[in-house]
Amino acid sequence: MNINKVDEFAKEMIFEAGKRIREAFSYDLKVYTKSGANDLVTNIDRETELFFIEKIKASFPQHKILGEEGMGENVTSLEGPVWIIDPIDGTMNFVKQHRHFMITMGFFIDGIGKLGYIFDVMREDLFYAIEGQGAWYNDSPLRKLQPVPLEEAVIGINATWVTPNRVVNHEKMIELVHTIRGTRSYGSAAMEIAFVISGKLDAYISMRLSPWDIGGGTVIAKEVGAIASNLKGEECNLLSKDTFIIANPSIHHQILNDYIEEK
Ligand code: IPD
Ligand code: CA
Ligand code: CA
Ligand code: CA
Repeated sequence: MNINKVDEFAKEMIFEAGKRIREAFSYDLKVYTKSGANDLVTNIDRETELFFIEKIKASFPQHKILGEEGMGENVTSLEGPVWIIDPIDGTMNFVKQHRHFMITMGFFIDGIGKLGYIFDVMREDLFYAIEGQGAWYNDSPLRKLQPVPLEEAVIGINATWVTPNRVVNHEKMIELVHTIRGTRSYGSAAMEIAFVISGKLDAYISMRLSPWDIGGGTVIAKEVGAIASNLKGEECNLLSKDTFIIANPSIHHQILNDYIEEK
């Protein structure tokens, strides 16, 4: 398989999907809830996932596809070529703010990340990587991340981290917030991962993410030296939900060791 050809195919498909989303959502948006009132999905999330599946199956019928909206197959192993796709990451932003939502996908062969994409649909900004060849923000190569002291770090977390919760000791998180330079909360995991990869954030932490939220991002992370793991410091599992941190390599261990106390 020529990976650069697959990359061209993926980019073309992502740009086309982005155009369709931008054109459709102002006049044809139906919003539904899934597991609860705050868990949204729209007709466009589903249609976009289906669009990707049809495109991939037409060119690569043997590839497996894991997508958030379940329009693909039930993927239980990462053996062979596998696409992991979130057609819209940040659906609440999509519905409410009409911006700050991403298409994100990763392409893996036997569990090894080959291609990763995070596309800001409204800005038409693409973060992507090809394993071993590097990472890019549109046409500009992304540099390896430079060390940053924790005191100067800006970290993506949301308010649940500093209020009593079931996942971590929130008092330690308050300490972290007091130590660093600032926090941000954007409402799209893929966007926050893209920001860490490009040095606009120095870390992003989440209590629970799914494979499609992080699949593409983990491939790009490797090319710039960002470290992605669960909160135990273990490698990300791309078949089940887990805790998640991605950080500049100079502060990844420090955050996990000194501030994250899992319950
Ligand atoms: C969600 C977003 C959000 C994160 C949630 C994800 P979705 O993805 O990435 O920022 O906090 O955990 O589920 O549902 O909008 O694709
Ligand atoms: Ca969702
Ligand atoms: Ca998502
Ligand atoms: Ca989604």
